[in-house]
Amino acid sequence: MLVSAKEMLQKAKAGKYAVGQFNINNLEWTKAILLTAQENNSPVILGVSEGAAKYMCGFNTVVNMVKGMIETLNITVPVAIHLDHGSYDGAYKAMEAGFSSVMFDGSHYPIEENIEKTKQIIKDATSKGISVEAEVGAIGGEEDGVVGSGEVADPNECKMIADLGVSMLAAGIGNIHGKYPANWAGLSFETLDAIQKLTGDMPLVLHGGTGIPADMIKKAISLGVSKINVNTECQLAFQEATRKYIEAGKDLEGKGFDPRKLLAPGFEAIKVTVKEKMELFGSINKA
Ligand code: 13P
Repeated sequence: MLVSAKEMLQKAKAGKYAVGQFNINNLEWTKAILLTAQENNSPVILGVSEGAAKYMCGFNTVVNMVKGMIETLNITVPVAIHLDHGSYDGAYKAMEAGFSSVMFDGSHYPIEENIEKTKQIIKDATSKGISVEAEVGAIGGEEDGVVGSGEVADPNECKMIADLGVSMLAAGIGNIHGKYPANWAGLSFETLDAIQKLTGDMPLVLHGGTGIPADMIKKAISLGVSKINVNTECQLAFQEATRKYIEAGKDLEGKGFDPRKLLAPGFEAIKVTVKEKMELFGSINKA
């Protein structure tokens, strides 16, 4: 069932668990994530960056693929198609194509401009029942060419953006995209605590879910994080399983070259990773 992310995240915040946003790259990714959500009776958010959307032949192709799978695979759990780190124009294009949720990442604009642009998007999205995620404090690391330095957000700025009526708020708390360096300082729980105190019921979003230790994830959820984004970890799981298949010479045996066989271990590995995350985030049986 295609829905906005608003209600599932409000439920998650009240129930003290988090819904995973898993980024998709192609048909195998999407199918693996949707099937895992259905098998575990978990709500799920499919994250699509502008780069990934371009790779998959545009927002329309993505929406139609997801809708087709929801119908054919009989997916009844709540599913949101969410634009990840959208630009202002990208957010409008995604909404037009039928995305049920968009992130407008205005974290690189001065706060006044971030507020103005976020306000306009909220106005237009809300009238169509589309949820909106905004960001304060750039998330570190590099994602699709957008490089952030891993800022820690100002809780007062978070409150200003939350008060505009966003559905969920991403705040930098020392998290970064991709693998964490050995000298990573960890999440700033002090900042998260201060943000939650000021923003109350607002579901908070933790980007850069890959490689954050389980105890930190649990603590973040206890302090109001209700959506956790995972991308790199599924890519690494897919890569490792595919490498094993080829290194074992399986592609040379019989019809092992058939893409449906070649991509199967990676597909299964994504399913395992997504299930592990759903268990850790506490979203199983919360559909
Ligand atoms: P990772 O790739 O570090 O899991 O981050 C994903 C993310 O935050 C997408 O917005």
